[in-house]
Amino acid sequence: MDIEKIFHMKGGHDDTSYSKNSTLQKKASEMVKQITMETIQEVYLTTSPQNLAVADLGCSTGSNSLSIIKELYNAVINAYNKAQNNGPKSPPPQLCVYLNDLPTNDFNSIFKALPEFYQNNICKEVDDGNRVNGSDQQGYIRPSVFVAACPGSFYAPVFPPNFLHFVYSSYSLHWLSKVPNGIYDENGESMNKGCIYICKESPASIIQAYVQQFQDDFSRFLRLRSQELKNGGRMVLVLLGRENTNHIDRGNSFLWQLLAQSFRILVSKGLIPEEKLNSYDVHFYAPSKEEMQEEVRKEGSFKMVRFEMFEIERDENYGDNYGVDVARTVRAIQESMISHHFGEDILDDLFDTYAKLIDEEMSMQDIRPVTFVLVLNKV
Ligand SMILES: C[S@@+](CC[C@H](N)C(=O)[O-])C[C@H]1O[C@@H](n2cnc3c(N)ncnc32)[C@H](O)[C@@H]1O
Repeated sequence: MDIEKIFHMKGGHDDTSYSKNSTLQKKASEMVKQITMETIQEVYLTTSPQNLAVADLGCSTGSNSLSIIKELYNAVINAYNKAQNNGPKSPPPQLCVYLNDLPTNDFNSIFKALPEFYQNNICKEVDDGNRVNGSDQQGYIRPSVFVAACPGSFYAPVFPPNFLHFVYSSYSLHWLSKVPNGIYDENGESMNKGCIYICKESPASIIQAYVQQFQDDFSRFLRLRSQELKNGGRMVLVLLGRENTNHIDRGNSFLWQLLAQSFRILVSKGLIPEEKLNSYDVHFYAPSKEEMQEEVRKEGSFKMVRFEMFEIERDENYGDNYGVDVARTVRAIQESMISHHFGEDILDDLFDTYAKLIDEEMSMQDIRPVTFVLVLNKV
């Protein structure tokens, strides 16, 4: 299966779209906002460019990405204003933001939202006193944020060498470049039957195959980004991970286990042939802190200056809706892959079942997916 041609978040803005079902990711980015903003300010203050080149890798369909662009812009302007008080006057910087995702991504949704975004955020900032380049003869205000798209896998070169100042990536790097080859036997059949990710029943070879794929992908990602970042460049990476070295936990692996269980219920109802389930595996890996540190150390282009592990805060009133909310979030992310493999007809049954299983489990014991945020400085 060619993941790069199939995998995409549910586009548009209907009830099952990613844009309507990504509040968990938004909450997480708010929780790490302080770290992200401090990092871009440090980059700006140490490199002082006129045009600050920023990439959002795995931007998806927009609203979360646009919120971050606004925050990054404000952070840079604040740093600029403070620096102006302490030194010689220079023109304010401009932010050039490059949105990256797989070519299958619904980039149009983002670009359609841009005029309103500029109107409500960027131009407003300009009118509020940060007038940057003034208006031209026709009365246009030149924006101080420029947004462009650079489609392509971040496991391949995306930008010219020595091009970027700052890289941000949120909830994207736990996606591998492919399902690891090592999970298939000599006949090309998955040896992870009945499971869709590392599960209790998975043989050691399955774990090894996922670990190897993570190591290959993450080290390639680091090498490529170090070539594309300028000296003084930094990255803020937010991704799912696991709390300790155990691959089976009550976090991300448990959510895949419940999805596998939902598939098995559909098999038992005759809605999916068993062989279909046996040949479905996800291109996902939740690394541990140690695994990330080790890859950063081995690859050698970056220094990890900050690492934090956290859980996304839940709404006070999540109670009855938690299963449905999580199922909708996972559906918006996984629908393209599942419908390609199983057909669209199973989606409603599958995710209704999944929502119920999540609520049943939650009533007995919490499910606690873990997120990492790390800051990497180019050395
Ligand atoms: C869950 S979304 C996160 C979107 C957004 N950053 C947020 O925080 O809401 C993950 C995104 O990563 C993208 N992605 C996954 N693998 C990728 C790759 N190899 N190259 C570029 N984008 C990738 C997916 O297409 C998807 O849009």
